[in-house]
Amino acid sequence: MVSKAQPDDAGGKEPRGQWNSRIGYILAMVGSAVGLGNIVRFPFVTSSNGGGVFVLIYLIAVLLIGIPMVLAELTLGRRSKRNVVDTFRNLGNRRWALLGLFFIFFNVYIMAWYSVIGGWTLIYLLDGFSNAYFADPTSFFSAVTEGPRALLFHAIFISIAIGIVAGGVSEGIEPAVIILMPLLILVMVGLAIYGITLDGAGEGLSFYLQPDLSDVSGGTIVAAVGQAFFSMSIGFGALLTYASYMSRDSDLNEDGVTVGLSDTGVALLAGFVMFPLLGVIGILGTAAVAEGGIGVAFLSLPVAFGTIGGTLGTGVAVGFFFLLFAAALSSAISLLEVGVGWLTDRGYARWKSALVLGLLMYCLGIAMAFSSPILDLAAGALTDVFVIFGALIIAVFLGWYYERYLDEDPGEEMDRGAGSIRLGRASYFMIKWIIPAVLVVLLSLAVLNVAGVEVMSGA
Ligand code: TRP
Repeated sequence: MVSKAQPDDAGGKEPRGQWNSRIGYILAMVGSAVGLGNIVRFPFVTSSNGGGVFVLIYLIAVLLIGIPMVLAELTLGRRSKRNVVDTFRNLGNRRWALLGLFFIFFNVYIMAWYSVIGGWTLIYLLDGFSNAYFADPTSFFSAVTEGPRALLFHAIFISIAIGIVAGGVSEGIEPAVIILMPLLILVMVGLAIYGITLDGAGEGLSFYLQPDLSDVSGGTIVAAVGQAFFSMSIGFGALLTYASYMSRDSDLNEDGVTVGLSDTGVALLAGFVMFPLLGVIGILGTAAVAEGGIGVAFLSLPVAFGTIGGTLGTGVAVGFFFLLFAAALSSAISLLEVGVGWLTDRGYARWKSALVLGLLMYCLGIAMAFSSPILDLAAGALTDVFVIFGALIIAVFLGWYYERYLDEDPGEEMDRGAGSIRLGRASYFMIKWIIPAVLVVLLSLAVLNVAGVEVMSGA
């Protein structure tokens, strides 16, 4: 991602990397945003939050809260040219830097469960060759996604991520995203069209697309905002870290909107793949889907592969899971890079930093590889809590403290270098007056939800 060290124009002592090209960092950000969140977590939260109505709220959350928050993170990173902890220290003070440490913890936490599911994509890739899950996806799913094999592939997945990040985050990520991402989209479009022609698909489509407003609860909104943040990689300092390698007059608005909209496009597309298939096997809204938990995508996809059948079915299965694995890996790299960026800025060797953080992530994931209820809680409700909390810290900092500490208008800073798209003023307004209030309410609901308090139906 980053070329040889360049003099650091923020006045720091150590030389620091820069992006090779604009297209390079846009691709790396899209690579971070598009991942298991879009293809695995989005169908899961959509199916457990009423379908169409969730999708509607999700889209509103992306536009009104998500995009301004993307700009906020990018602005902070570009302004400070530092990792997330030192961004809060340099632009704020020591106390803010302590809050910045939460972000490192969040990344370790997310990566723990992310890597377990990343391991599943490898299992499905390998077992695709023998069509192992075509006939009975549900029993296959429960057999392989919990237990020693899941743990082994969690270890393999995280080792690959450590290897790439230790190597200096790849020069390889740019070509990988340029080639693999369009292929993934192409295969998904193909699967969506194929799935929609199958018997029973209509029921799935209407679950996905017809909002039933009576289903809305506080829980739906928490899940929608949490998913929007998660999917766009907001609230954990990943975008901030990537933006810290940008030059100060790059066009954040255009880049932020590109990343936000392409991410949302891929999520919606994933819904068009999964829901018709869930309709085909007739398990929409049933116990099987609930039991699938975060794995609903792994229950629905094999239906398509199985009915395609033959060599083609095998090929599509293997190809799809390879591309999903690649998408998961490019996101995982950004999760690991946040902590590694912090440690290397403090003078630790890159490989040591990646190894130590990676081991922590691995250990935290062990319980999740053995218990799907733990995994579902970790990847679902608890992730919403953390991601909303992280976004709240960023919103409060940019909305209420940035101007005080730096004597600069953050809205103007957001628009610095902008071309025709200028969302700085409107975003600053939202981030100051609306978003923190909304997030405080949602955070309280999300915490109650984890505590198991039944204030929310449907979640
Ligand atoms: N956005 C990624 C996905 O949808 C996951 C991810 C990568 C992420 N980096 C992040 C989420 C940083 C939050 C913060 O799969």
